Amino acid sequence: MGAVVNTPVLGRDGALPQGDAKHDAVEGMFDRLAPRYDRMNRIISLGLDRRWRRRAVEELGLQRGARVLDLACGTGDLCRDLVAHGHAPVGIDFSAGMLAAAHVVSPLVRGDGAALPVATGTFDGLTCGFALRNFVNLDAVFSECARVLRPGGRFAALDATVPTNPIMRAGNAVWFRGAVPLLGRVIGHDAEAYRYLPKSTAYLPPAAELAARLAGAGFRDVRHSTLTGGSVLLLTGTRA
Ligand SMILES: C[S@@+](CC[C@H](N)C(=O)[O-])C[C@H]1O[C@@H](n2cnc3c(N)ncnc32)[C@H](O)[C@@H]1O
Repeated sequence: MGAVVNTPVLGRDGALPQGDAKHDAVEGMFDRLAPRYDRMNRIISLGLDRRWRRRAVEELGLQRGARVLDLACGTGDLCRDLVAHGHAPVGIDFSAGMLAAAHVVSPLVRGDGAALPVATGTFDGLTCGFALRNFVNLDAVFSECARVLRPGGRFAALDATVPTNPIMRAGNAVWFRGAVPLLGRVIGHDAEAYRYLPKSTAYLPPAAELAARLAGAGFRDVRHSTLTGGSVLLLTGTRA
């Protein structure tokens, strides 16, 4: 792992970064978070993250032995679930820190979602866990996902979202905007990163628009649904 970049991820006024500044700030943030990422993930998701990832892998509906790219693999939780389902995953992430903290048997590659170092039509499936909102150019990433999947290949992405139900929305706000930054300071040693995480849902367009943009990149049968009272988005599609 190279030098960890200490660029603040939020502006002085708490503003979310954009463009190249976002790319560098997000990469630096995940490099810093990496050693404590898995522990914090279990805590802030109340242990439900494992269930969400298993659901995404099931939604691929692929035969055992399928070649699956796990985009923005982080410390490799989805790679582990893919292996448990009998698949052959390859993980890609741009954070050297997250890759160094991964505990997986699968091959891991350092690379950017907007320019995947992968030949066209290589994979039967692609997963992406909790990273859509972190990409600078979502359309470039969707178009790379389409390029590296074979026709008929399956796509499944998860991301955090804000529930539409007012009660769930209020509970989500108390947890993610109140408790999570506090836990991030005490356990994750990075309060700013855990203020960024709930704020960053603002980058995601509404689910219907996200689905339309995935379809526009070359996917059919695009579907979106939510899990756990609307707090997690599941987006799936098939390479046309
Ligand atoms: C919230 S973590 C999710 C990690 C893992 N998928 C999981 O489910 O735990 C988001 C990941 O996206 C990665 N990431 C963000 N932007 C990226 C990009 N442009 N290319 C590759 N990886 C990226 C980060 O480095 C980080 O590991």
